[in-house]
Amino acid sequence: MVNMNRKNLNMEDILRLTNIIKEELQDDIGEYYSARITGSTLSGETLSFLKHFLQDYQPEHILEFGCGLSTILISDIIHTREKCSFVSVDNVETFINITKKELRYPEDVRFVYAPIRVSWVDYCPFVTYSDRFLDAIQGDGPVDLVLIDGPYGRIFSRDAPLFLISHLLRENSAVMLDDSNRSREQEALALWKKQFGDAIEVLEIPGFHKGLAIILIRKSLPPISFNTAYRLKRLYNACSSLRNNITYTKAINDMNENETDNR
Ligand SMILES: C[S@@+](CC[C@H](N)C(=O)[O-])C[C@H]1O[C@@H](n2cnc3c(N)ncnc32)[C@H](O)[C@@H]1O
Repeated sequence: MVNMNRKNLNMEDILRLTNIIKEELQDDIGEYYSARITGSTLSGETLSFLKHFLQDYQPEHILEFGCGLSTILISDIIHTREKCSFVSVDNVETFINITKKELRYPEDVRFVYAPIRVSWVDYCPFVTYSDRFLDAIQGDGPVDLVLIDGPYGRIFSRDAPLFLISHLLRENSAVMLDDSNRSREQEALALWKKQFGDAIEVLEIPGFHKGLAIILIRKSLPPISFNTAYRLKRLYNACSSLRNNITYTKAINDMNENETDNR
């Protein structure tokens, strides 16, 4: 297996690992996970990649946006480790509760419920997880691995989480952005590249059908700065995202009510 020393994590190692997954290991995650893959979860190849990445790279502090099957896989893998913290952030309590029930090792995961709110970054509005999740991870130290698989990608952009935690990343931290083939995620990657320049290295893994991008942090991330035109554009987007969030929240509440009625 590829040896991914955390100190020397590089794109060549990651590419080699993804090639092994594509050519040899497609279904090595096992029946439990395979049976639970849906359009809303990580794909089989991404779960496999995550599994091997966790085993080889051994991050000590993991932060996830968007709980579900990924949370179960991460907690299963880190369970035997002495030194590993894992925080999972989600904006829907129902999905946190569903995930909690499925966990074999609930004590290994700290869930943070962070409802969708407007967060301001350099006077620019982002409709994303409430930044209260930062209070919950304060004092944990730098984050080695971040998985960004939320909020719900059909409605929300996923660019803001990286801005909100940029001070917690250090040289050699890795960020995974799922669904990177979609246009909103492509916009997020372009924005991160523009803001962070050579402080990050981005690899879009070829051949993963939903897309997976790996962002390696090469040095401390520079301050974030937006111009007025961009702030205005995001203000306009924020209004429509907040409207969509009302519809989304109602759909989730209806789903909960139907489930309660059916009991
Ligand atoms: C892509 S999902 C996260 C999936 C998770 N990482 C996994 O591997 O299962 C992103 C977010 O969408 C929400 N979500 C999950 N399933 C959903 C569904 N069927 N309909 C609407 N929202 C959903 C949850 O809040 C979740 O955090």
